Amino acid sequence: MRLAIIGTGYVGLVTGACFAEVGHHVLCVDIDPRKVAVLNAGGIPIYEPGLEDLVHRNTAAGRLRFTCSTATAVAEAEVIFICVPTPPQPDGSVDLSFIEGVAREIAAHLTEYRIIVDKSTVPVKTGEKVAETLRRYSRTPTEFDVVSNPEFLREGFAVEDLMNPDRIVIGTSSVRPVPKMREVYAPFAAPLIVTDTNSAELIKHAANSFLALKISYINAISAICEAAGANVLEVANGMGMDERIGRRFLNAGIGFGGSCFSKDFSAFIKIVEQLGYDFRLLKEVQRINTDQMDRFFKKIQETLWVLKDKRLGVLGLAFKQNTDDVRTSPAVDLCQRLLREGARLRVHDPKAMEKARAVLPPSDAVEYVDDPDEVSAGCDALVIATEWPHFAKLDLARARRQMTTAILFDGRNLLDRAEAEAHGFLYRGVGR
Ligand code: UGA
Repeated sequence: MRLAIIGTGYVGLVTGACFAEVGHHVLCVDIDPRKVAVLNAGGIPIYEPGLEDLVHRNTAAGRLRFTCSTATAVAEAEVIFICVPTPPQPDGSVDLSFIEGVAREIAAHLTEYRIIVDKSTVPVKTGEKVAETLRRYSRTPTEFDVVSNPEFLREGFAVEDLMNPDRIVIGTSSVRPVPKMREVYAPFAAPLIVTDTNSAELIKHAANSFLALKISYINAISAICEAAGANVLEVANGMGMDERIGRRFLNAGIGFGGSCFSKDFSAFIKIVEQLGYDFRLLKEVQRINTDQMDRFFKKIQETLWVLKDKRLGVLGLAFKQNTDDVRTSPAVDLCQRLLREGARLRVHDPKAMEKARAVLPPSDAVEYVDDPDEVSAGCDALVIATEWPHFAKLDLARARRQMTTAILFDGRNLLDRAEAEAHGFLYRGVGR
């Protein structure tokens, strides 16, 4: 099938590559000619496991192409996916100008029936607005259908999630696009839910908020564990074995981050407010998230007493494992707080150091270190800020030897506490 993707960013590029991998012919469009040139020359603008292979294999096979021309995309493709950013505005609401712009541009080139699919995360009722825009700006009266098809991929696991989705949600107000949408997704072995557009749009915000709530819940429990002398890992395991709860997303830490959760969360609170509902539960989830970072920072401050001129090694800068993304990263937030107190940092991340340099410029106070086992050299304390699994295999004996004082703050509960203590460390985890 011939498909087009408008917006070759995170979601667009991975979606396009995965559709091509299952045999569709995909044309990816982006307004940025430099990005299109990079992709056409075999470069990949983001780090995502497995993506490079997928892009190279499918461009070589002629199933994946990149262009700046929306006109070509509208002319060639039966189904057009909108994957453009929906950034937050200062008041937390969503800026839908990219979505509107794309809808207008599609309308300008629409001459025969097309299915226009929104994959970007948008407020409920956006599909209705997109349809209205397409009608308003079409040069000739042309039939089309608008479908909502939210994306649930996680950064760092994007290819895996797209190739093996838990479910596929198709929201539409007409039955006409359903067979084609089934055909698009036929190669993916996942249950397909067909529903109305508003419900599909809500599923995305409701799901993301629920996941954030799950994290804040276990983070709140971690605070209780610390006060009660219990272990949050044991509590999470015990809770998670109940199938109704599940163990995933019950890892206490320094709070959730990333551009999606934070943005969608504030947006959803705003959207439901406009619908007349005060979602106080979600506001509390947000507050717990901020508290969690405050408590961790305070733990460092209280343990080290004076932070000024203390040297700290920080492992992890990305907002989570498997990504180079540092947007709304709790790890970067923590570094910035430490710097404000006059601490000196030696930082490392296996993938995010390049992007981190823009938000955490190298200076007398910030030194970038390539080898994770070198980070602790000369430090008063070591902090684990991102859950990269290999940080759990740190050479603790070496760290102990090269540190000034043996103090470990494990913001992601990655290390075995007993082992760290056996190496002579004062160990401070989260909720244990
Ligand atoms: C999230 C959702 O998981 C995806 O389903 C959704 O498609 C995506 O947002 C989106 O809207 O685009 P993502 O932001 O990539 O995906 O990251 P997550 O894996 O959900 O992690 C978010 C944050 O929560 C990270 O900072 C992570 O470290 C933290 N986290 C996660 C915890 O602190 N504890 C956990 O148990 C799980």
